[in-house]
Amino acid sequence: MLILGIETSCDDTAVAVVANGTDVLSSIVSSQETIHAAYGGVVPELACRSHAENIRPVIEAALQKAGVTLHDIDVIAATQGPGLIGALLVGFSLAKALAYSLKKPLVAVHHLEGHIHSIYLESSQIPLPFIALVVSGGHTDLYYCPQRGQYTVLGRTRDDAAGECFDKVAKMLHLGYPGGPIIDKLAQRGDPQAIHFPRPLPTKDTFDFSFSGLKTAVRSYLLQITNPQGKRLFSDDTFWPTPTVAWWEPQRNDILASFQQAVVDVLINKTRLAVEHTQARAVAVVGGVACNAALRQQMLYTGATNGFPVFIPSPRFCTDNAAMIACTAYHRYSLNPPYYQQQNFLGLEAQANLMLSSPII
Ligand code: KG4
Ligand code: ZN
Repeated sequence: MLILGIETSCDDTAVAVVANGTDVLSSIVSSQETIHAAYGGVVPELACRSHAENIRPVIEAALQKAGVTLHDIDVIAATQGPGLIGALLVGFSLAKALAYSLKKPLVAVHHLEGHIHSIYLESSQIPLPFIALVVSGGHTDLYYCPQRGQYTVLGRTRDDAAGECFDKVAKMLHLGYPGGPIIDKLAQRGDPQAIHFPRPLPTKDTFDFSFSGLKTAVRSYLLQITNPQGKRLFSDDTFWPTPTVAWWEPQRNDILASFQQAVVDVLINKTRLAVEHTQARAVAVVGGVACNAALRQQMLYTGATNGFPVFIPSPRFCTDNAAMIACTAYHRYSLNPPYYQQQNFLGLEAQANLMLSSPII
């Protein structure tokens, strides 16, 4: 079964052709990073406009790379939400139009369910039940998954998402956007023990996260630093050292490594507690922040020393992509093909705040 997946929930226009749920024939991601970099974050109107321009060429590229035409496709899948409404509308409306005109079924996919399913693209045997840590630019959630496609939320962030925190710290230091990959790289040259930043909500009483205090702690720390001549890093609230100022570089790398370690410690600690609490048999770490080298390495180590296997997708399937959307759609469709064949999908709408619940079918 050939599924065309479409994902436009944030700032990446992504289209994939996936055969039988896991055989990725093509996965094209057209990134808008350069458009949003000047603003240090995603500008919704620009994202929406750029999706509208990119979506058709990206679909054509994905079909061409897979060596198929639209008529070979059996099912159309698209992200219904959550995300930026203008961005979602571009991909979801086009998916509806394609499915309608080609007389194919449409599977509407939840973006986070897509991230969770990304582990199945590379590993078919995930022990059940498992804990899914979803760490992205918009979410930091812990789910208990008793079966494939069933989710109970254990905790989520009360303020900023982990990826958002990486992006905001990078923005403070004018390091560029998105901040996660840049901090990941610079932190490898720093000492993660150099500064002790807070580890918020460390108790067993909650599986919730909170990252805004950590971001403020980094800012407060930066406000106190002076250059060798006694000038503060932030003068009139503006950060002035350029990345190449020699005295600043090692200090900056220590700050970034210490900040990153605080995020990683919190994510790992909560996940380990969730495994203990639920007696889950495995852990999946998904979403853009799952690309982070320190998180990957330390989560794998924690799993190995605590007796649970850890599944983390390859980086290209951690960040937003449409292969995970097609993979999810395959699973959903296989559970009840007649439902999707008869569904009146024209009534479905993109939803900015779509909740993740276990599918009824
Ligand atoms: O899943 P994703 O591509 O989009 C959302 O659904 O939000 O995640 C994007 C987020 C951004 O905040 C980005 O900074 C972060 O993932 N990210 C990373 C790394 N690569 C991407 N964070 C830490 N380390 C990385 N290597
Ligand atoms: Zn995402």
